[in-house]
Amino acid sequence: MSRVLVVGGTGLAGRAVAAEAIERGHDVVVAARRVPDDDSAQYVTGATYVTADLVTGDGLEEAVDGAEVVIDTSNAMGKQASHVFTTGARNLVHTAARFGVSRAVLLSIVGADRSAYPYYRAKAAQERVYLDSALDTRVVRATQFHDFVTAIFDRGRPFGALLSPTGTRFQPIAIADVAAVLMDAAEGAGEPDGIIQVGGPRVESARALAEQRKKATGSRRYILPIRLGGALGSTWRAGRNLVPEHAVDGVGYGAWLDSGA
Ligand SMILES: NC(=O)c1ccc[n+]([C@@H]2O[C@H](COP(=O)([O-])OP(=O)(O)OC[C@H]3O[C@@H](n4cnc5c(N)ncnc54)[C@H](OP(=O)(O)O)[C@@H]3O)[C@@H](O)[C@H]2O)c1
Repeated sequence: MSRVLVVGGTGLAGRAVAAEAIERGHDVVVAARRVPDDDSAQYVTGATYVTADLVTGDGLEEAVDGAEVVIDTSNAMGKQASHVFTTGARNLVHTAARFGVSRAVLLSIVGADRSAYPYYRAKAAQERVYLDSALDTRVVRATQFHDFVTAIFDRGRPFGALLSPTGTRFQPIAIADVAAVLMDAAEGAGEPDGIIQVGGPRVESARALAEQRKKATGSRRYILPIRLGGALGSTWRAGRNLVPEHAVDGVGYGAWLDSGA
């Protein structure tokens, strides 16, 4: 058993990682700017919570103290992304190295290294901070989560539609499957300072996935094809979000929908 620090452990992926680490018998500390109430959906029973801010560095020493492994599942959007993914990552790896943390695992995105989309560029910069650090690092690049793909479709809700990006395929993955790969890496799987890629069990067109969502919810909304502009649209249409050679034998989108997620 090791002490594992999950930074961003109150978020979607972080909660699954904290739960998986506890399930595997580790001593788990979760760090985020806000600590959840113990009766909220964000609270993972068995974890210890500390307040820490990656960008200001407040609380980081207390968070890393005694940890053998740090797993970074933090997230930020817009202008905050570059602060959290560069300044924040630097603060975390330097503090972790000073406190004798031996290993770091970063959750990143498939294609982050091959896109001009600003968020992906910020993720690529975050990867470099980790890979250039003194810590034994594993970067885990995952494909889109089932929840994320669903959120894209549901952006059409105000128009009575499911939005479906044209010319786009996804390889969606269950967060629990990502959490298992992150924990394998935390326990030493993969090469030191290496990149591990992981994708969902199947590559399917956005339209085929939207059809599954429509059927599973019994929705009467129609599927509205949209051409996604900008660098994200071209990254996805080029298939840079896919790693069919690294498909997990895990929960597919249809089964995930059927589970009531
Ligand atoms: N969505 C996808 O399909 C997908 C696919 C592959 C990889 N990823 C990656 O997965 C990661 C996690 O995404 P997610 O959707 O699970 O994130 P999320 O639900 O938005 O959670 C973000 C977490 O980061 C924490 N956080 C934000 N700013 C912080 C700061 N300054 N200091 C400390 N903690 C901070 C948040 O807590 P507080 O706000 O309380 O601080 C929260 O715990 C991201 O890096 C993303 O790039 C996502």
